[in-house]
Order: sequence, then C-alpha cells, then structure tokens
Amino acid sequence: MTILVTGGAGFIGSNFVLDWLEQSDETVVNLDALTYAGNLQNLASVQGDARHVFVHGDIGDRALVDALLARHQPRAIVHLAAESHVDRSIHGPGEFMKTNVEGSFTLLEAARAHWGSLGDVAKAAFRFHHVSTDEVYGSLAPGAPAFTEAHPYAPNSPYSASKAASDHLVRAWHHTYGLPVVTTNCSNNYGPFHFPEKLIPLMIVNALAGKPLPIYGDGQQVRDWLYVADHCSAIREVLARGRVGETYNIGGWNEKTNREIVHTVCALLDELRPSAAGPYARLITHVKDRPGHDRRYAIDARKIERELGWRPAETFETGIRKTVVWYLAHADWVANVQSGGYREWVSKQYGA
Ligand code: NAD
Ligand code: TYD
Repeated sequence: MTILVTGGAGFIGSNFVLDWLEQSDETVVNLDALTYAGNLQNLASVQGDARHVFVHGDIGDRALVDALLARHQPRAIVHLAAESHVDRSIHGPGEFMKTNVEGSFTLLEAARAHWGSLGDVAKAAFRFHHVSTDEVYGSLAPGAPAFTEAHPYAPNSPYSASKAASDHLVRAWHHTYGLPVVTTNCSNNYGPFHFPEKLIPLMIVNALAGKPLPIYGDGQQVRDWLYVADHCSAIREVLARGRVGETYNIGGWNEKTNREIVHTVCALLDELRPSAAGPYARLITHVKDRPGHDRRYAIDARKIERELGWRPAETFETGIRKTVVWYLAHADWVANVQSGGYREWVSKQYGA
C-alpha cells in the first residue's frame, strides 16, 4: 500500500513522513515543489529508504499529479503542501492563491478522476485528507469559548483566507462528487525542522546569535501551541478512523501569549546555553504590530478525543524543552537554512 503526501519536505510534512516511516511499512510518495520552505535535509535520515519516493514537483501540475496517481495507486492523499507564513501572505498574497487555492483545486480534480477510476473496494477505502489550520475561524475575544468544528469561518489574513477557500473546495468536492474527504484544522505547531521565520524557531536562533527578539505589538496575542509529533499522530488517527466528510479540530490545550512563549524560550536557553552577556530576555524588542493581527486562537479538541480517543502526548513544558534541545543540537541545520545552503543544493540537484 502507498500514500501520497504533498508538502512532505516542509516543517510538518517532513515530521509526518519520518513518523509514518517509523510506524508503518507503507510507501510514501512525497510530492514537494521545494519552495524556500521545503528542505530535503529534513529527510536525510530516510535517504535511500525504498519506502520513501521523493518527487520534485508542483501540486498545480495536473499532468504530473495524474501520472503519479496512475503509477503509484495511493490509497490516500495527505495534502499538506501550502504557502504557510502569514507575514509573507501580507507582503505577497499571489503565491498563496496559486498554491493554496488553485493548487488544491488541481489536486482535488486529479484525486476525483483517480478515485472515479477505482474498483468498488478501493473506492470505498480511498481518502483525501486535507490538512488545514485553526486560522480559518478568525480571531476570538478574550474569554470566548474555543473554536469548535461548528464555528463560522471568518479568515482575516490572505493566508487564512486561502486556507479557508481550500477547505470549502474540499467540502464541496465531497458533497457534490462524493470524494471521500476528511479535513483537520490544527492550531500552531512547533518542534524540529520548523523554519526560523515563525515565532518559536526565530526566537531560538536570534537569541543564540545575540540578535533582537521582535515581539509584534503588545505581545498579548494568544495562540494554542501543539508539538508537531502530536499533530502527526492526530493526522494518522483521522486518516485511519475519521468519519468521511467530517472535520476535526486538533489542538494542544495550551493557550499562551506571545510574551509568555518568548520568555519561556529565553528561560530555557538561560538554563541550557547561558550567555556571558546576561539573560536572553534582554534581547526582547517590541516592534510594530502585524496588520490585521488576530488576537486569539483557541481550539476545542473534544471531538477528536471523543470519536478517536486522540489527545496530545506532550505538554507545552515537555514539548518546548525538546524543541530548544533539538535546535541546540542541530546548529548545522540552522546554519544551512540561514545561509541558503539547502537552496543551493536544490538548484545543483535539479538545475534550471
Ligand atoms: P511549510 O511552509 O513548512 O511547508 C510547506 C511545504 O509545501 C514545503 O515543503 C513547500 O516546498 C511545499 N510546497 C509549497 N508550495 C507547493 C506546491 N505548489 N506544490 C508542492 N509543494 C509545495 O508549512 P508547514 O508549517 O509544514 O504546514 C504544512 C501544512 O499544515 C500547511 O497546509 C499549513 O497550512 C498547515 N498547518 C500548519 C500549521 C503550523 O503551525 N505550521 C498549523 C496548522 C496547519
Ligand atoms: P507565527 O509563528 O508567524 O504563526 P501565526 O501567525 O500563523 O500564528 O506567529 C505566531 C505569533 O507570534 C503571532 O501572533 C505573531 C507573533 N510573532 C511575533 O510577535 N514576532 C515574530 O517575529 C513572529 C514571526 C511572530
């Protein structure tokens, strides 16, 4: 058996592929365009493993996706490929529409054609698993109940609008064409291989380099943080046993303000890699707020627990410690990402 994963060289995708190959003998075909966020170094430990078939390509390339589906006959598609950074979506929304909306549309159409060609048993077993975000629900007032799956969509950034659009397409492909889909909406992830443009890895690498730790606005914005391995285990559960056509919220029950996050990272670094210049919190700088900055996200993850028995294995305290320890032990990965070395490798490998 085989599954097709899109975006498997990114942060969550590479964690998912590595976890999958640790737990199963099933082959993973990994389709990734290797944008700035894709990094094959993340997958170095499975290089040469015949169960991992890497394909450098775009989800928007219909001929390529058709050929992959025909050749590998996957029993499921786990769709993670996306442009994922809110700040980049504010500066340049075009790529987000292209990949997150049009690319998801192309992938759905290819999946529909493939699914339609299957025999009855394979057709009933097939799944299109769409990996999405809690940001589609918009911003919560302090004290308001956490997002359930029934919360109205109210995306506020070009990123979340593009993800909301893709969620709607997935829903429609199920209701109109019967494509067996499941969608998961997850809160903010953190952990190994997280690109240092996002809050937690940026704070770790900047602190170690003695650079400012930029907190947007007052830093009182709240996110619900989930260790990435827990997101991967939730995806596996939903893929295996989630009800077709349903959406499942995934979260860590860990609401924290950005200020708390940055102070926690600084305190761990003070303990694990003290700086002669003094506590890392001295580097905290408040900078101009992000336009349209959502104030609070919080996930009500009771449905996935009730139906599938899933709960996160990590608390924030255990997960953030593992994360800081990972970054301290992988200075080479950080240096390669920061120098762009991993990109040079891509152009050498794939040429023009
Ligand atoms: P990421 O930016 O780290 O990785 C995205 C991957 O997709 C990269 O490897 C990139 O090369 C690839 N990609 C981009 N455009 C592509 C295209 N057109 N064709 C093929 N591959 C392409 O993102 P991430 O943080 O790993 O997020 C993965 C998914 O999970 C996204 O769909 C995101 O919306 C969702 N999600 C992320 C979080 C989070 O906290 N990071 C939370 C909830 C949901
Ligand atoms: P981010 O990691 O970009 O995830 P998202 O915007 O998808 O939630 O940001 C997490 C929070 O941290 C968000 O409220 C923005 C804030 N933030 C900062 O305060 N400073 C930074 O340098 C970054 C990257 C984010």
